[in-house]
Amino acid sequence: MKDEMVRTSGLRREYGEVVAVKDINFSVPRGAVMALVGPNGAGKSTLLKMLSAVLEPTRGTAVVNGVDINENPRGVHSSVGFLPDFFGLYEELTVAQYLEYFARAYGVPPARREKVISGTLGDVDLADKAGARVQALSRGMRQRLAIGRTLLHEPPLLLLDEPASGLDPESRHDLQKLFTRMAQAGKTLIVSSHILTELEDYCTHVAILREGSLVACGSLSEVRSLIVKKRKVRLRAAGGTEAALAQLRASGLKDAYAEAGSVFFEFSGDDEHLTGILKRLLDGGVKVLHFGEEGGGIQDTYLASLEKKI
Ligand SMILES: Nc1ncnc2c1ncn2[C@@H]1O[C@H](COP(=O)(O)OP(=O)(O)OP(=O)(O)O)[C@@H](O)[C@H]1O
Ligand SMILES: [Mg+2]
Repeated sequence: MKDEMVRTSGLRREYGEVVAVKDINFSVPRGAVMALVGPNGAGKSTLLKMLSAVLEPTRGTAVVNGVDINENPRGVHSSVGFLPDFFGLYEELTVAQYLEYFARAYGVPPARREKVISGTLGDVDLADKAGARVQALSRGMRQRLAIGRTLLHEPPLLLLDEPASGLDPESRHDLQKLFTRMAQAGKTLIVSSHILTELEDYCTHVAILREGSLVACGSLSEVRSLIVKKRKVRLRAAGGTEAALAQLRASGLKDAYAEAGSVFFEFSGDDEHLTGILKRLLDGGVKVLHFGEEGGGIQDTYLASLEKKI
């Protein structure tokens, strides 16, 4: 379908006896930022390598930006910017030389090269390091340079395998900002990670892998409501808890309770259901100061999926 960036069908990869990815069917809409999460050995890297057409499936296939990975791997390469889990950089080159080298290798036409390189340096916040040698870069800068390399041929899809691993909180934050900018520029991203909390501020979709199988996949809210059956909400209102409690109980949330100046309730619905509850409170004259979910982020969703083994 035109609005899908990726669709897999029965995608499978074996390494001898080990089935790393087991007959996976899923799709990623264009413009999505998908978090690909799962414990060590779940098959994340294997899946990303197949989607980048650098590793052949044992069975099944995937269509990436309209191109079949088995039929036309080279065609896939031009649609995909792939950051592998381990990568080397040419230490002796300067940052600008490094990007120049890969711009040539990726066939960026000479007339466009300078513009593409300066644009990329700006995108990954390395413009002031253009003349610095790669060996002198910090880990966060190296990671951004490697991501810059994946952007040179202006692919619509970025597949990033644990881009934040080994980075300190500040560098992680810089990466988050970079991903948000790329998503705003219309790119589709699939980002794998173990550290899930850092993805939830900007991802729109989640795929959870375990032992080669897809445990859950969909929009953040779909995956959450699939796994976390009960969502817990805390609210605070000007003038105390009484009015809010009465209103919630009248709406059928009999278990709502007050504690330490806040009101809590649990429910098992989707985002629309939640906004409906807020609207009724406001319509009922409750002066809501805070209304937010406790937990229920990707980290909790993910841990819940591991526990429930769905
Ligand atoms: N080249 C290989 N040869 C043999 N087995 C492999 C190879 N690559 C991966 N595997 C096996 O395939 C399974 C999935 O590995 P994969 O690297 O895709 O998982 P992952 O989710 O990326 O793990 P991690 O979080 O540790 O990076 C594991 O059991 C792993 O041992
Ligand atoms: Mg991996």
